[in-house]
Amino acid sequence: MAELSRRDILISGTTLGALGALGMASPAQADSLSDGWTWPASGSVAGSGSGADPRWVWDDVADPLLASLFDRGLIPEVNRLLYDWNRNDQPLPAGLPEDLRAFIEQARQLPSWVHPATLDAGARFHVLKGNYIVVLTIVGAGMLATAIPKEARAVYYSAGGADLKDRVAKTNILAYAVRPQNAWAAGGTAVVEAVKTRLVHAAVRHLLKSSPHWSGPIPISQEDMLVTWHTLATYSMRGMREWKVRISSAEAAGYLHSLQVMGHMLGIRDEFLPATWDSSYAQSDIVLPRNMGPTSEGVELNAILRGMLAEMTSPGSIDKPLVNAFSRYLTGNQVADWNGIPRQPLSDPLVKAAWPLLVQFREGLIGLPLVPATAWLLDEMIKKWTTYYLTKGAQTKIVIPTGNRPS
Ligand code: HEM
Repeated sequence: MAELSRRDILISGTTLGALGALGMASPAQADSLSDGWTWPASGSVAGSGSGADPRWVWDDVADPLLASLFDRGLIPEVNRLLYDWNRNDQPLPAGLPEDLRAFIEQARQLPSWVHPATLDAGARFHVLKGNYIVVLTIVGAGMLATAIPKEARAVYYSAGGADLKDRVAKTNILAYAVRPQNAWAAGGTAVVEAVKTRLVHAAVRHLLKSSPHWSGPIPISQEDMLVTWHTLATYSMRGMREWKVRISSAEAAGYLHSLQVMGHMLGIRDEFLPATWDSSYAQSDIVLPRNMGPTSEGVELNAILRGMLAEMTSPGSIDKPLVNAFSRYLTGNQVADWNGIPRQPLSDPLVKAAWPLLVQFREGLIGLPLVPATAWLLDEMIKKWTTYYLTKGAQTKIVIPTGNRPS
């Protein structure tokens, strides 16, 4: 059980690890075997629920709208019109179809439960702990995503799957929009990027149905979105806690609140969004294990992701072993094996020992002599990634896909 204890706890508090230890080849298969939705809605932002099972709920409002925009051949024109719609307080451009305009005007409203002072604490947390948040929510969560079969396949067979660099850059537009102090306020951009993403997801649901490679239920259900939400929220908070990052209760509450607002704005129902970190942990332990496992698409996407990370680290002289070792460290052995990440006999133990010490040094918990040399290599790597992610996102825009991945 020692192998389960640390990295696997990062992901799901032990359940995912326990499934692996029990020899369940693909926990994702447990999805179809498990029965109803057991997470209590009393632990949600709404405080109560309809009893709906999030595996069978998608986006009641955006989905029929996007289907209709496709039927009317309006997507290219909508993309053109929305291209320069960037700021939360910016009026919508003239000429949008009336049903889309009405939807966006409604979808851009923040929920009644938004608490600006709590959001401010979340923004301060993003500034203070930005490096850890990048490592966990962009690199770590990206690695987890490729071990979520439904997400890996959806990404692989949608248009963005053909150009993962651009896809990653687009996804980061939202990641960076939610960080600043005014993210959700007048001068910020998070509302716009979240609403655009909600439209993209509805388009993907519509498009993938006609992909010859897609089978099974419509993608991006409420549960699927919760799974991804946990790879950002719960996974990163557990990671920072394990690394002994200093986090005040106000910062923890602020960080959760910013993620709750993001979830709501992406169309996750309040009855499914966890109200507290404890209810997040409980929900994560239900939804992650049953939605994770290996796929050939995930393995391929993961290799591309690691190739991108290696290129950013040292263009020209690709330092794959370190990237592989850090990816394995961030997600644990089970997920790393599902992702086809090669073991690095030299780098794996070095990274595992060095990274927590680097964090503890940064947090003022230990002195410099205790930090091993490998830690500074990792430090350099993370700085390069952070710079890349901060700058690349600005060069592209989120647009509604007009088709699936060309085969
Ligand atoms: C697109 C974020 C959940 C699959 C996007 C985009 C963002 C984003 C920012 C726009 C970038 C782009 O167009 O490439 C998120 C967040 C989620 C979430 C924050 C949950 C909290 C999911 C889930 C799936 C998924 C659960 C699949 C099961 C996709 C796909 C695209 C997309 C296929 C479009 C790629 C394309 O352009 O072809 N998502 N997403 N997303 N997302 Fe998500």
